[in-house]
Amino acid sequence: MFKNMTIGNFVSWYIELGKLMIFWAKRVKDIWLVDEIDGVFTIGVDWLIRRRIRKAVIAIAEEADKVEKALTIIHEYEDLTRILIIPEDYPLGLDTVDARGILYLWDVNSKILKPNIDVRIEILKSWNNRYIKVFEGIHRKSWGFFIPPRPDDHVVLLGYLNDEPVALAYLNVNNFNIDYGIHVVRQYWRKRIGTRLLSEALRIARGKGSKYLSVVRVFRSLKGTAGDRRAVGFYRANNPSVKMAVYRLE
Ligand SMILES: CC(C)(COP(=O)(O)OP(=O)(O)OC[C@H]1O[C@@H](n2cnc3c(N)ncnc32)[C@H](O)[C@@H]1OP(=O)(O)O)[C@@H](O)C(=O)NCCC(=O)NCCS
Repeated sequence: MFKNMTIGNFVSWYIELGKLMIFWAKRVKDIWLVDEIDGVFTIGVDWLIRRRIRKAVIAIAEEADKVEKALTIIHEYEDLTRILIIPEDYPLGLDTVDARGILYLWDVNSKILKPNIDVRIEILKSWNNRYIKVFEGIHRKSWGFFIPPRPDDHVVLLGYLNDEPVALAYLNVNNFNIDYGIHVVRQYWRKRIGTRLLSEALRIARGKGSKYLSVVRVFRSLKGTAGDRRAVGFYRANNPSVKMAVYRLE
């Protein structure tokens, strides 16, 4: 599935993604392949949420012509939380959806846009409180709130322009997801600084032997806010190899 991922790769990637505690990936107690029929993967998962188990089912159709099949399968699980992962461009009506996001994957050898080579990147495997303040400043000036990196999971990419820290990304080295996405201080947007961080994340992932790099975003509203459109516009412009939409069905 997803070009370079086996189902085993996906499961490991997904369990790590659960640390983000987003609508479609939470802490995993158990996960198993229910079946794979006709290019539709059905995955059962038990999430652990505040010491309680919540049961979910994830149906994945990588190709548009399999989506109807995935919908038929997932409708058999009315009592569970139902997650649908399908090609981003498939025109799914939103009336039966109550949360939405994207999952993009790059082959680590993908060709992306030309990055800004004036940006210097510092790669951090550990950081002190002074760095934490710098990270916080960038997050607050990009999306408005702060999430700190996790020392056991993240390599932090800190981008400087003329010695000023202006960009930040946390690469999770357990699953090669860019946790919480790429961030650039607002006044420096559209200078290919975000692209520079993406190219560096791809280089690190490649160097560590991964075949892919991923990013996810949970939409702030079903139709997508200006921030959602901006993030999607940026990632899409950088030519991901796989572009999936993720939905939770009502
Ligand atoms: C998304 C973000 C990182 C982009 O950073 P950036 O440095 O401005 O992006 P780049 O200059 O490298 O953009 C590369 C290409 O992406 C596309 N792009 C970037 N911003 C875009 C926007 N607002 N709308 C549409 N396309 C956009 C363009 O094609 C652009 O190339 P161009 O400027 O030559 O047309 C930045 O807007 C940001 O920090 N946003 C807030 C934080 C956030 O939501 N991050 C994503 C979390 S999932």
